[in-house]
Amino acid sequence: MFIRSAKLAVNRLHILNVVVWSMLALVPQAHSAASNLLPTPPMGWNSWNHFGDKITDRDVRAAADALVSTGMRDLGYRYVNIDDGWQGQRDAQGYIHPNARFPDMQGLADYVHSKGLKLGIYSSPGKTTCAGFAGSLGYEEKDAQTYAEWRIDYLKYDLCSFTSAREFDGIGTSLDKEKRAYEIMGAALAKTKRPIVYGLCQYGIGSVWEWGSSVGGEMWRTTDDIFDNYSRMTSIGFAQAGLTKFGGPGRWNDPDMLEVGNGGMTTDEYKTQMSLWAILAAPLLAGNDLAHMSRETLSILTNRRIIAIDQDPLGRQGDRYHAEGPYEVWTKPLAGGAKAVGLFNRGEANAEMSISLSGLGDRRTVRVIDVWSGEQVPVKRGNCTVRVPKHGVVVLKVG
Ligand code: GLA
Repeated sequence: MFIRSAKLAVNRLHILNVVVWSMLALVPQAHSAASNLLPTPPMGWNSWNHFGDKITDRDVRAAADALVSTGMRDLGYRYVNIDDGWQGQRDAQGYIHPNARFPDMQGLADYVHSKGLKLGIYSSPGKTTCAGFAGSLGYEEKDAQTYAEWRIDYLKYDLCSFTSAREFDGIGTSLDKEKRAYEIMGAALAKTKRPIVYGLCQYGIGSVWEWGSSVGGEMWRTTDDIFDNYSRMTSIGFAQAGLTKFGGPGRWNDPDMLEVGNGGMTTDEYKTQMSLWAILAAPLLAGNDLAHMSRETLSILTNRRIIAIDQDPLGRQGDRYHAEGPYEVWTKPLAGGAKAVGLFNRGEANAEMSISLSGLGDRRTVRVIDVWSGEQVPVKRGNCTVRVPKHGVVVLKVG
């Protein structure tokens, strides 16, 4: 993973006071009520980051096939989510129909289900979606009913043009209107009696993590859109600090989808996204073309030990523990008392980062595993020192 070369500048960083073990005190969850549809963050695939609004039935079937043939399904990637671009016209009764690229939505759902996967779809509380297709404004119940008839399992509901919805004039502030709009679709989905994951995509406005659950959401985007570059990915990912107590089983903060494999970042940068998202207990929705991916991309998406950190049954979102210049340490408590520790080097040169494992209490022996490689990391005089490539990460499992 790390290329040793005399020519490479190596910074030495000591973060000696990172007490890994003493941070186990449980932070109370903001709400206790949560649906049981998502006991761990959802995993799967979404069409947007690679296919944009040109997505077709064929592409979706190919993604489903690839989830099976690559083994990703069996590692937990279950949702196959169609994003914007599937919508056609409404009929005289107001029911939405897919466009010509999706000739048989129910057939597609049956196909996806036959593979042991689940199908997701996308709409907006506004008149139109972000890409200009028909939104659900005024047709919420009909749309929810249609999704249930097609046997859809997941809805991403994206704010888009809602801000100009005249229909909500007179309902308090713009945030009150948004909450009401999300509540209407939440109620419409509940009325279908079909278990449909409800993902709010409202970019984090008005601290959605504080109220997303109360309008029926199981997850909510906390940020604006991700792009396939390191600067954007890290400005989103590292800004998630402090949201820990709002996430948990049935209520996940969503810093947007994965870009792994889309070509705009290096392997170390993609590993940074995968690692940070796992430590954040974020949804892991691959956003690349699964049918045509490199071995390297597949190996990043399918590292079992990284996935296990994301899917840890405790469901605790990790947080920033320490930062010094471009070097950051993030930690996530795991079930059974172990801890995931991410050492991130956001700098422009390779670095050595050391953490002190003091504070381990009575434990005489502590095992430290490098999560990406699975290898044991030596502990010397209570410290672990690892080399972290520029824009890269080392994730340790301690305990
Ligand atoms: C918004 C969302 C994206 C994607 C597009 C589709 O930008 O944030 O994730 O769904 O709309 O138009």
